Amino acid sequence: MAADTSRFICQSCGAEHRKWVGRCETCGEWNSVTEEAAAKSAPGGLKGKKKGRRLEFETLTGASEPPPRMASGIAELDRVFGGGLVPGSALLLGGDPGIGKSTIALQAAARLSKAGANCVYLSGEEAVDQVRLRARRLGLENAPLGLAAATNVRDIIVSLADQKTDLVVIDSIQTMFLDNLDSAPGTVSQVRGAGQELIRYAKDSGTIVMLIGHVTKDGQIAGPKVLEHMVDTVLYFEGERGHQFRILRAVKNRFGPTDEIGVFEMTDHGLDEVPNPSALFLDRRDADVAGTVVFAGIEGSRPMLMEIQALVAPSALGTPRRAVVGWDSGRLAMVLAVLDTRCGLAMSGHDVYLNVAGGFSIREPAADLAVAAALISSLTAKPLPHDGIVFGEVGLAGEVRPVSQAEARLSEAQKLGFASAIVPTHKNAKGVGSGMGLRAIGELGSLVDLIYGNDGRE
Ligand code: TYD
Ligand code: MG
Repeated sequence: MAADTSRFICQSCGAEHRKWVGRCETCGEWNSVTEEAAAKSAPGGLKGKKKGRRLEFETLTGASEPPPRMASGIAELDRVFGGGLVPGSALLLGGDPGIGKSTIALQAAARLSKAGANCVYLSGEEAVDQVRLRARRLGLENAPLGLAAATNVRDIIVSLADQKTDLVVIDSIQTMFLDNLDSAPGTVSQVRGAGQELIRYAKDSGTIVMLIGHVTKDGQIAGPKVLEHMVDTVLYFEGERGHQFRILRAVKNRFGPTDEIGVFEMTDHGLDEVPNPSALFLDRRDADVAGTVVFAGIEGSRPMLMEIQALVAPSALGTPRRAVVGWDSGRLAMVLAVLDTRCGLAMSGHDVYLNVAGGFSIREPAADLAVAAALISSLTAKPLPHDGIVFGEVGLAGEVRPVSQAEARLSEAQKLGFASAIVPTHKNAKGVGSGMGLRAIGELGSLVDLIYGNDGRE
């Protein structure tokens, strides 16, 4: 009977189907169901039959070398990798079309090849001439980089077999295909199949394979999402179209920290490193402006100052407008509700606009207090001092909670010339940020009093 010899499994969620279907009913993924041979079940499971190999167990305290690393020489990039690229690793570089993935990949490969590494750039999207033009624009035309336009993975593996390469860039994985699969390039099965072959090549040969993948509107890498668990490192390239800066973020890293970011600026000669991002996101003003607050955030291991702007205006609408750029709208609703309920501020009759200046996107709950301060300041038209920073998390009861790395936040602010800070009350906070005027706040009500009462200084 057919059911005994094969089954139909969704490669996305693992659901089993009685027959082949175009779309998995369990997870809704298209074209993810494939036929697999059923495991031959011997009576008694694995017992009897073949003999297995006996494993030697080791201890955790064995001598293992840290992985060797190849630094690209682009400091912001190496920071995201955790000190450089690890030979034999596979990495996925995801991002919106046009964000700069090909540019950063070409810059990294050219740098490494100039430093003596054997690097190959395989483009499935652009012709060799186009890549050459780009290299000329980046001032990298002299780099000894191997260049080819190719999409057939078999051809690629065969061409690479007779040389020792250090880095292979595949631009992009959606254009690659295996000729033994029926589906078109870019489909889940082609992306998975091609990815698997290339990753196997990386492991077997000790080459670094960088797979570039485009993402869809909803922020998911279409197709390459299935590669995320197969590769060692997943990087996302983020940025706003209208802004020059680009953020490279490690969301998975088997050889280094995650959540580490590298900051770049897109210029007319490629991506430049931004070693001091706080300066990029802060537009230093000398006057106090109501509704504007500087938030001291942490991105990965690095403190970063950002400006949060709020505008609270009486609403003519039955349902007031809430517009947020660069922060979570659910989180804004929560802060507004707490201000309304716990502090008696009439936010419900007002339109609220919130913006993180510079186009950056904040993910930390530590920004709650800064957002609250911006909202109160705009509502009351009372500015906070322009040389002050704010951070802290707000709870539903209106309490202000301590956040991690307070010291790093304060010292970054001090380095950039800020003189005062509104921070959560913390029993271990003594000695932190010496030299700065600190104002510790235990609940949101005190922040309201502070902004109403005086200019926010102690
Ligand atoms: P690209 O690296 O091709 O993006 P991706 O590979 O992610 O699709 O980047 C293309 C964009 O970057 C394009 O809009 C032009 C811009 N750009 C510059 O502004 N300066 C440059 O030096 C280069 C090479 C590109
Ligand atoms: Mg590209």
